[in-house]
Parts: sequence; C-alpha cells; structure tokens
Amino acid sequence: MRIGYGEDTHQLIEGRPLRLGGVAIPSERGPLAHSDGDALLHALTDALLAAIGEGDIGALFPDDDPENKNRPSRDFLRAARERAEAAGYRVIQVSAAVILDRPKLGPYRDSIRASIAELLGISPDRVGLTFKTSEGLALEHIQVRAVALLLPLDQL
Ligand code: C5P
Ligand code: MG
Repeated sequence: MRIGYGEDTHQLIEGRPLRLGGVAIPSERGPLAHSDGDALLHALTDALLAAIGEGDIGALFPDDDPENKNRPSRDFLRAARERAEAAGYRVIQVSAAVILDRPKLGPYRDSIRASIAELLGISPDRVGLTFKTSEGLALEHIQVRAVALLLPLDQL
C-alpha cells in the first residue's frame, strides 16, 4: 500500500477562469498560472507522484517549457496515473481539501468528484472533497491539500 500527499497554491486575479478538478466554476477571479491553474488537479498529481516516489509535477512538466503553457491540467493527472500504473499501482482513493473564500463550491462538489473519478478510473464515492474558507486570511489565493491511496495491482 502506498500513500502520497500533495498541495498547490495559486494567486487569484480578476478576469481569469477558475477550473477545479477539470470543472469550470463561475467566478470573478481565477488563478494566475502558466497552465490552466487547476490547483486541485495539481495537488492530486503531486499526491500520486509522491505515492510512487517519482518527484513532482514540475519535474514532469517544467513550467518554462512552452509546450506546457495553457495545457489542460487533466493531462498532468492522467500522466501521473499512467506512471503509477506503470510502476504497478492502482489508485484506490483520494481526498482533498480546497481552501477558498469565494465563490462557494458546495454546489459543484458532485460534478468535481465525478470529473476526478473519471480521470482516475475510480468511483465517485472514492473521491473525498471538502471546502473551507480561509476566514479572510487568504482572500487572494486558492490552496489545495490532497492525499492519495494506492494499492499494488497484485493486491486488488
Ligand atoms: O471555512 P468555513 O468552516 O467557514 O466553511 C464552512 C462551510 O462552507 C464548509 O464546511 C463548506 O461546506 C462551505 N464552503 C464552500 N465553499 C467554499 C468554502 C466553504 O462551500 N469556498
Ligand atoms: Mg498549480
């Protein structure tokens, strides 16, 4: 059994689209980022890579490589899943906490869980997703923390 932890933070600025877990969220502000800035997919990608001891998202997709500019973050998580499967592991469960003051994310929880579940090839009930405000301490940022549990393919 393997576990991995990952996190991501992005500054939020006006006029940028907000994507979380591959889902577009109506918002006045979105992340300043080289890619699409999907902090949830970035944190999950790092959690998977950490679980198999393979570095992190920036090692796989350097942010100074023009090929990665505005790249959909789904590609990152898919690549991490492929790495995990190549190493002999299957993702069993993930859990993430998103810290964001606005907008409220509750209405999008199920669609985000479904999107992540599809990317990871697991059922949505194996995607835990919680939301917290920063109580006004980080109004200009989004932060995500995520964990992943993987099992060796021969133990499934
Ligand atoms: O941060 P706080 O404990 O005040 O958040 C209260 C609840 O608001 C959370 O448990 C969550 O259900 C919801 N929430 C949300 N979207 C956010 C932040 C919090 O739906 N961006
Ligand atoms: Mg990021």
